[in-house]
Amino acid sequence: MALQYNIIMSKVLVSGGAGFIGSHVTVELVQAGYEVVIADNMSNCDLTNYNGVCRILGRKMPFVKMDFCDAKAVHKLFKKHRFDAVIHFAAYKAVGESVGEPDKYYLNNLTSFLNVLEASREFGTNVLFSSSATVYGDTDKLPVTEASERQPATSPYGNTKQMCEDFLRDAVRAYQGMHGIALRYFNPIGAHPSALIGELPRGVPNNLVPFITQTAAGVRECLSIFGDDYPTEDGTCKRDFIDIVDLAKAHVCAVRRMIDGRMKENYEIFNVGTGRPVSVMELVNTFQKVNNLKLNYKIVARRPGDVVAIWADPTKANEELGWKAERSLEDTLRAAWLWQQKVTPAK
Ligand code: UFG
Repeated sequence: MALQYNIIMSKVLVSGGAGFIGSHVTVELVQAGYEVVIADNMSNCDLTNYNGVCRILGRKMPFVKMDFCDAKAVHKLFKKHRFDAVIHFAAYKAVGESVGEPDKYYLNNLTSFLNVLEASREFGTNVLFSSSATVYGDTDKLPVTEASERQPATSPYGNTKQMCEDFLRDAVRAYQGMHGIALRYFNPIGAHPSALIGELPRGVPNNLVPFITQTAAGVRECLSIFGDDYPTEDGTCKRDFIDIVDLAKAHVCAVRRMIDGRMKENYEIFNVGTGRPVSVMELVNTFQKVNNLKLNYKIVARRPGDVVAIWADPTKANEELGWKAERSLEDTLRAAWLWQQKVTPAK
């Protein structure tokens, strides 16, 4: 008689799992053997990415429509599933909007994370917080390492990232047995190579790559490049553009490290970037070249609040998480264009 094994898979909650980053992370987690529950209040997305995730994985994924500001609902979910880890993405993310409506950002982003922390403490769940390179602010000591000093936040959105990092650090310090990781993302771009999931900004995109792809698709008339008089080689800003699938894989490594009890400290921070600065102009030119098209663009004034350059030193993630960005900028920009063509009806 054949032996039967009951393999108990670790269970991970992905809050905000129907969004751009959450959907890619869900795919990578499931493909790495984790059981995932997606939860989202759908305030900033439709079902496109959720459906795409189910198609890629070939099955209907568990999905809970809920708001993480609802403490009772969060408690109930954690009690029911006894997650091994939670990855918290559910948050508002528009920098400009946060300046005009700070209370909306503080109320939502802080309350939801406090509820996640409270439930994680009660049910012994590992916490992965989705942070941002924005916490480094404007610095000329580049590349930034996790030890680089955080600068005062320049927007309420950025402030919520810093505050949530601190909430996590303090909770881990205070409550025995709690573990947490904050991943500081640089500029996530691209889409899944299947073109079944990707970025779907509502209204006019704020970020560079969705604006580029929408311009190429004819949804926007012309890309504005914000400033060519910065002190860089070509005068445009420099960023660390990280492929979304590479970024998603960093979450699998971090979750594994927490669940397997391999953390060196109970609270850890990792930069998730490539370590390679790319200028806005260089990115625009690469997009045109690899997709064999011409983009309508013009140079306009600098955008207030932009830092000249920021890029990661990813050594800690490379060495400690065993993670490394692998996809080329060329492949990432091909995937971004493929996705845009999929979501834009042909004219
Ligand atoms: N840019 C343009 N034209 C556009 C959009 C952007 O020239 O239409 C330029 C920006 O000026 C900047 C670069 O492209 O130099 C990148 O801009 P993004 O808006 O794509 O990204 P940011 O670096 O400004 O934003 C990132 C994250 C945010 C985070 C922010 C903090 O996407 O989530 O860093 O500064 F909050």
